[in-house]
Amino acid sequence: MRLLVSAGPTREFVDPVRFLSNRSTGKMGYAVARAAVEAGHEVVLVSGPVSLEPPPGLAAFVPVVSARDMLAALRRALAAADALVMTAAVADFRPARVSRRKIHKGAMPDSIRLVPNPDILATLARRKGRRVFIGFAAETERAVAGAARKLRAKGLDLVVANDVTLPGAGFGVDTNIVTFVRPDGTAEALPILPKLDVARRIVAEAEALLARRAR
Ligand code: CTP
Repeated sequence: MRLLVSAGPTREFVDPVRFLSNRSTGKMGYAVARAAVEAGHEVVLVSGPVSLEPPPGLAAFVPVVSARDMLAALRRALAAADALVMTAAVADFRPARVSRRKIHKGAMPDSIRLVPNPDILATLARRKGRRVFIGFAAETERAVAGAARKLRAKGLDLVVANDVTLPGAGFGVDTNIVTFVRPDGTAEALPILPKLDVARRIVAEAEALLARRAR
């Protein structure tokens, strides 16, 4: 399988020294890339800024910064991929204007106007073809309902839902508590597992979805 994985946060700069971002550390996405390499697949990892070492054995590693960079990198790599696992925590908004110079505190604006970033999965879905698309849903309440809504809206084959407020799940920790939400409306809740084990399950799901598609 030729697997494209996105990971980490994106950064949306306000000026040369400041940015808007989120709490993603990239652990889940890097674990998916590692598990897929270990399973013998050809893996391209597109990553926002994180402090992790890329796993050994990748076909390519593409560092990006902003959501728009990430969209461009994934768009380029998608043509040669059979499946996309979108673990990245993409910033939904960016400042409408990026100051070329540092904004000094004497000139502090009352507010920063934001504009929406592209929805990467929804954009790439237009060129999905027979590819398998797996998304994540970071939720703080009613995770399965939110995931089911995202699955439909973005035309996905599987959504991995997690409630990022649970201890042992979400940002920065080495475990996760996820539920696989499928297009047939079923939801499979997994126990708390190391992120590498969750990653192996996700890779197995991608393999099964692709095998079914090839028949
Ligand atoms: N995603 C994306 N492009 C964005 C935002 C999110 O491709 N601009 C992807 C994420 O990588 C994830 C899925 O969409 O796989 C769901 O992301 P999430 O942040 O949970 O949801 P949003 O689409 O941002 O929706 P909401 O803000 O309503 O939670």
